[in-house]
Amino acid sequence: MSALPNAPHALFLENLHDDADRAINLFGPVSVTRLASSPERAQLEADLQTADVIGIRSRTHIDGALLDLAPNLLAVGCFCIGTNQVELEEAAKRGVPVFNAPFANTRSVAELTMASIIMLMRRIPEKMFAIHESGGWLKTAEGSHEVRKKKLGIVGYGNIGAQLSVIASALGMHVYYYDVEPKLAHGNARPTESLDELLSLADVVTLHVPDTAQTRGMIRAEHLAKMKKGSFLINHARGQLVDIDALTEALKSEHLAGAAIDVFPKEPKGKDEAFDSPLRQFKNIILTPHIGGSTLEAQAAIGEDSAMKLAKYLYQGATNFAVNFPNIEPGPIKPGNTRLTVSHLNAPGFLSRLNEKVSNAGLNITAQFLQTQGDLGYAIADMEGAMPHDFQAIIEGLDGAIRVRLIGQSA
Ligand code: NAI
Repeated sequence: MSALPNAPHALFLENLHDDADRAINLFGPVSVTRLASSPERAQLEADLQTADVIGIRSRTHIDGALLDLAPNLLAVGCFCIGTNQVELEEAAKRGVPVFNAPFANTRSVAELTMASIIMLMRRIPEKMFAIHESGGWLKTAEGSHEVRKKKLGIVGYGNIGAQLSVIASALGMHVYYYDVEPKLAHGNARPTESLDELLSLADVVTLHVPDTAQTRGMIRAEHLAKMKKGSFLINHARGQLVDIDALTEALKSEHLAGAAIDVFPKEPKGKDEAFDSPLRQFKNIILTPHIGGSTLEAQAAIGEDSAMKLAKYLYQGATNFAVNFPNIEPGPIKPGNTRLTVSHLNAPGFLSRLNEKVSNAGLNITAQFLQTQGDLGYAIADMEGAMPHDFQAIIEGLDGAIRVRLIGQSA
């Protein structure tokens, strides 16, 4: 524990990466208490009495009842990608933004995908199985290729797809991509007009789209049939994208020469549960246990990213990238200004009533921001002038106000 008098206090649970301590102090001092595990509920309730922000991973469950017992808690940082462990709506209702680090492991996925492309094109999985299982020595160039000048088809040209595009281009691949949104091509990568066009031209097709109603089951038998004979499919994105039975048939018929799959429609819940899938029968595919983003570097990046977002919220009121809150990036507070942040019910007239109170207090607004999302509004006003001692209470008394903060230069 490092305690700083008057500094906001962060409670970091579940052995967060060390880099989080440096990042949480980026905008001003924050005292940090660390715990290696997730405490029992009663202990957590007690610990939260003194915490301004909390950093968790997947094991700590935060619900509305817990938040009611922690009225001083300002924000929750999920030091991971998923946020299912937090009741997001309940947190929003109480004016508590929740942050995560959705893109911190994207480089790790891009690297594994590139490695898988090379391993598949060199037919390494079959050769490895032969050596491990029976000492088989498949010393042959048959079916093995360099990736140079081969066509890579990327479905979803977002954070991962675009990084992969750059890496694959550097290795001399011809990169094509298909995305539902217009995306600026990196290097010599070329967009295709349709998914079908991409499927029919690529030597390797790799999926990097989110799990949505549109993408679920986007690769079925008819799509696999459109892929070139002898091509490869990679799914390092989400388990529901590919019809596994159809993929099994495409591998059995040798229409596809192999695959690399990291995500599955049904995955074991933990180490004690066995993984089962018809794909296990094939020796020309790489099966991995959903570890596309699991590297120590990604852990460090997650620690840094989530902690930085909490720090920015503490010292600037910034909610950009919060998963349950209107997003505002107000920038640093000007010298001599005090920043008022108010989460409130999204209803007509709130901002004018707020501004009236500010004006009545003799304060001058130098900058103002407002965003709404569903029932929730988030307003920020930078003000100059002598602050009346009861100003916070006045704003808290406004009809619809949920959470009011005053952030000054030495907050
Ligand atoms: P992103 O949001 O940056 O990019 C996704 C792209 O897909 C966007 O450009 C979007 O426009 C596009 N897209 C959406 N629907 C589409 C459709 N129907 N057809 C074509 N393009 C479509 O996401 P990011 O960070 O690149 O992640 C991609 C996937 O990788 C996500 O599903 C994510 O959950 C998964 N992932 C898997 C990991 C693992 O451990 N295997 C780790 C990290 C991410």
